[in-house]
Amino acid sequence: MPAKDSKRSLGALPLLYPEPVLLVATYDGAGKANVMTAAWGGICCSEPLSLMVAVRPERWTHDALLERKAFTVGIASESMLAAADFVGIVSGRRYDKIAAAGLTAEKAEKVNAPFIAECPVILECSLEQSIRLGVHSMMIGRIEDVKADEDCLDAEGRPDPAKVAPLIFDAGTRGYYGIGKRLGDAFSVGKALMQGL
Ligand SMILES: Cc1cc2nc3c(=O)[nH]c(=O)nc-3n(C[C@H](O)[C@H](O)[C@H](O)COP(=O)(O)O)c2cc1C
Repeated sequence: MPAKDSKRSLGALPLLYPEPVLLVATYDGAGKANVMTAAWGGICCSEPLSLMVAVRPERWTHDALLERKAFTVGIASESMLAAADFVGIVSGRRYDKIAAAGLTAEKAEKVNAPFIAECPVILECSLEQSIRLGVHSMMIGRIEDVKADEDCLDAEGRPDPAKVAPLIFDAGTRGYYGIGKRLGDAFSVGKALMQGL
């Protein structure tokens, strides 16, 4: 792993690898199911088990989240590429975009929110906090339950990333990617470097 001798400054960018393609689903004030794409999000606490999504106040989803205090996060898979992009460029304020995208909304079991049935993995969340950071509000949700399609599970009942085939977003080139191959065992491959301690 040789160090490079120069790096170019690119300025401040929203650049992290990987960025997820999360489908955040809510019921709006009229009870209509809606979904939006969010790339700014991730796990933010393990006890209570929580995630955050950053949502701009002008999104239809923003007020639905505050009103219902419930949402689901669907992991978009590679087969959902066009639909996942579509619900990120059209607002539910004017359209029933779930139907227009050819997606299916079902009622979540643990929270008062819909989920997108085509997503292989769903995280059911209750809104715990919202923090206005600037042009985004950080919506922090407690993960109440995770549902996964049976055919995405490995022999031990864990979601297999190769079967889930999550979509990845790259803000740098504004492109979608798939995940690569498994490179090693976490909390394990680094142990080889402990010999010198
Ligand atoms: C790849 C991608 C990632 C996006 N990430 C976010 C995000 O993290 N936060 C956000 O507020 N909007 C994000 N958007 C934009 C919203 O999904 C978009 O404005 C959507 O139409 C809002 O829907 P709504 O008005 O029905 O809530 C993203 C769009 C795309 C295509």
